[in-house]
Amino acid sequence: MIRFNNVIKKFGEKPVLRGFNLHVHPGETISLVGTSGAGKSVTLKHMVRLLRATEGEVLIDGVNINQIDGKALEEVRKRFGYLFQSAALLQWLTVFENVALPLRENRKFPEREINERVERVLEKVGLLEAAEKLPADISGGMQKRAGLARAVVTEPDILLYDEPTSGLDPVTSRTIDELIATLQKDLGVTSVVVTHDMISALTISDRIAMLHQGTVLEVTPPREFLQSKNEVVRGFLDSQCINPNFFDDFPERMLK
Ligand SMILES: Nc1ncnc2c1ncn2[C@@H]1O[C@H](COP(=O)(O)OP(=O)(O)O)[C@@H](O)[C@H]1O
Ligand SMILES: [Mg+2]
Repeated sequence: MIRFNNVIKKFGEKPVLRGFNLHVHPGETISLVGTSGAGKSVTLKHMVRLLRATEGEVLIDGVNINQIDGKALEEVRKRFGYLFQSAALLQWLTVFENVALPLRENRKFPEREINERVERVLEKVGLLEAAEKLPADISGGMQKRAGLARAVVTEPDILLYDEPTSGLDPVTSRTIDELIATLQKDLGVTSVVVTHDMISALTISDRIAMLHQGTVLEVTPPREFLQSKNEVVRGFLDSQCINPNFFDDFPERMLK
């Protein structure tokens, strides 16, 4: 569905992606993990051509997104929902109007359908009561949920999440994880989740890709990831105090 073939991305002389290969399968949830600056956000931005590869191909269902423009690019972008690192809500619009934004931009939706759709997703993320509030008047967790609602309101095939739990307390983070898993189940979308939160990655993913120095070190299901012998992976898990028996101690109901 999404395929990176030997992608190189340089900013000036500085290479950030250096021969990057990744294949995201239809319907799966894949997490990209790695230390800060590893290239996770840069990778995500390539998928919707917010950044263009210096070399190599980024294919979306076989279409090289580096080689299209105008209407064709717009069509590909319409298939994506994107939750940015900061929830990026417009501060002067209510939660309702923030979520309605992508539908209004699209111009083809009559007002009645906009209302129905926005209410439906706000209910899914538990924000119906907060619909008329301004972003400044709701908590960080609620802002992320509003961002999530906005990302899914157009019913995209592919959802990109950049650090959906960053800046949230652990309890709120797990609520967001559960919500991502529920949306996944209900909508059957393909999801790419950038995170440095290993608990999120382990509990919501079908596979985890470890990024390191501009390449993908390994891509494995969570249980295999925990058993990895790779030094970089081990160091990353140790730094978050995640041991190989993580799943034995984690509450069953929280697992995918
Ligand atoms: N637009 C840009 N111009 C120059 N350098 C950039 C740009 N975007 C990202 N970088 C650099 O690329 C590297 C990877 O960034 P990023 O993908 O944001 O890391 P992370 O894995 O933390 O999300 C960093 O060194 C960052 O400074
Ligand atoms: Mg980032």
